[in-house]
Amino acid sequence: MSPQVLASEESVGEVSVDALVVAAYKSSGGLMLSSDAQTLDDALEGELSEHLTHTAFKGKVAEVALVPTLGRVPARTIVVAGLGDKGEAGRNEVMRAAGSAARRLTDRSTIASALHADVSDQQAVAGATEGFLLGSYKFTIYKSDPHPSKIERIAMLGGPVDDLIERGVATADATTLARDLTNEPADTIYPETLAERAGEVADVGGLDFEVLDESQLAERGFGGLITVGKGSAKPPRFIVMRYEPESEARQTLAIVGKGITFDSGGLSIKPAGSMEAMKTDMGGAAAVIGAMSALSKLKPQIEVLGLVAAAENMVSGQSVKPGDVIKHYGGGTSEVLNTDAEGRLVLADALAYACKREVDAIVNVATLTGAIMVALGPKAAGLFSNDDALREEVAAAAERAGERVWPMPLYDDYRSDIDSEIADIKNTSSRWGGAIKAALFLRNFVAKGVPWAHLDIAGPARNDSAYDEVPKGGSGVATRTLIAWIEGRAG
Ligand code: BES
Ligand code: MN
Ligand code: ZN
Repeated sequence: MSPQVLASEESVGEVSVDALVVAAYKSSGGLMLSSDAQTLDDALEGELSEHLTHTAFKGKVAEVALVPTLGRVPARTIVVAGLGDKGEAGRNEVMRAAGSAARRLTDRSTIASALHADVSDQQAVAGATEGFLLGSYKFTIYKSDPHPSKIERIAMLGGPVDDLIERGVATADATTLARDLTNEPADTIYPETLAERAGEVADVGGLDFEVLDESQLAERGFGGLITVGKGSAKPPRFIVMRYEPESEARQTLAIVGKGITFDSGGLSIKPAGSMEAMKTDMGGAAAVIGAMSALSKLKPQIEVLGLVAAAENMVSGQSVKPGDVIKHYGGGTSEVLNTDAEGRLVLADALAYACKREVDAIVNVATLTGAIMVALGPKAAGLFSNDDALREEVAAAAERAGERVWPMPLYDDYRSDIDSEIADIKNTSSRWGGAIKAALFLRNFVAKGVPWAHLDIAGPARNDSAYDEVPKGGSGVATRTLIAWIEGRAG
């Protein structure tokens, strides 16, 4: 069960909870306590600041210290969380600090927070809510002795902020859904069950919903999905979700996710170590389904199509072979030289489909290349676009959402590297610039004049170690960026 978040009028000196979270800042003169932390330090006769000095607490963003109060104030433990330089502390610093604090507090039941109290950013309470909920996330359903988070209640001190709490809950729940889908083994989440889960989300949110099965895909020419999926006992699916606003929409957006529920590499098989985490190769799909789940709560005035290309990339006598040629949705063709470059093959169909639906802009999300991790490391997504304004929009949305993306180029003169002898394009060439060439492959299937952006989330979709609000394992990354982009577009 997700904890309940509520607003409270109580002050830090009177609130009776297991853990009370307050802020401290980094300043040139050393650590600077927030006014609430100062109040508590006075009640503890200076012991709080003494503890922080002893432990060399600097007030860096998301730095956390726990100090027991031994009955001197009603709260049992004071949690000091760093927000960095005071002048720069905003929603995202509060979110990260709350996330980091929550990860240390999953054995407590009641929490109160005044983290946002001195932060002028209006969205600070939404950030705190999101951070506490995401930081306390644990995926424990397969443990025989699970230790789920015990947090039951989180009180936001300082008065009525219910609408901001609601926002934070909506974005956190969407991300949590994406994490759950990503963390499930490929044995339970495969194209059919991913479609079922998306269908449940659509039911709850009142979204239009359609799934194309393997015979409909073949009939309608989704050659990329059919070809990638044919080596598996689990057939591919194409998922179409649609959110419609209450009053008439002036624009339609498409968000598109790579839904490879397991990537063995196919006949161009991956080495064992590289295959271990490949149940998370549907992280893009998870972000799309997560974002769609939030729209009925946030009610942006804009129509949104959520598209997922779902297939399992496996080895069998039926598998696609290097040298095979695909006819994609809409008629474009590609030559498959490496069966492990499968994400672009299923996305080609989905992008062509989105263009056929005459959407105003497309953002796709995909765990597409190892090369983007070489370029940007594990904590950033690469952002590619055929349209400068859209690239800026998506970058600004990610910034507002507190997710790290970095712009990458689409060099036209690299395009000839993926010219094919026998088809329109081939799916691999030399390894250099691999993330760019993958993006150029996708661009080939976007109709002229349609603004399109691609987020390569191969790095941050899954993490080896927790930080800030992000857990180890599936992260649900890009869910919040997609929501922020949609809301920004809706105005
Ligand atoms: N799903 C992988 C990309 C990936 C790698 C995601 C590591 C997360 C972590 C993708 O399908 C893939 O295998 N890409 C190949 C492309 C190559 C064959 C051109 C890669 O990056 O090696
Ligand atoms: Mn692959
Ligand atoms: Zn893949």
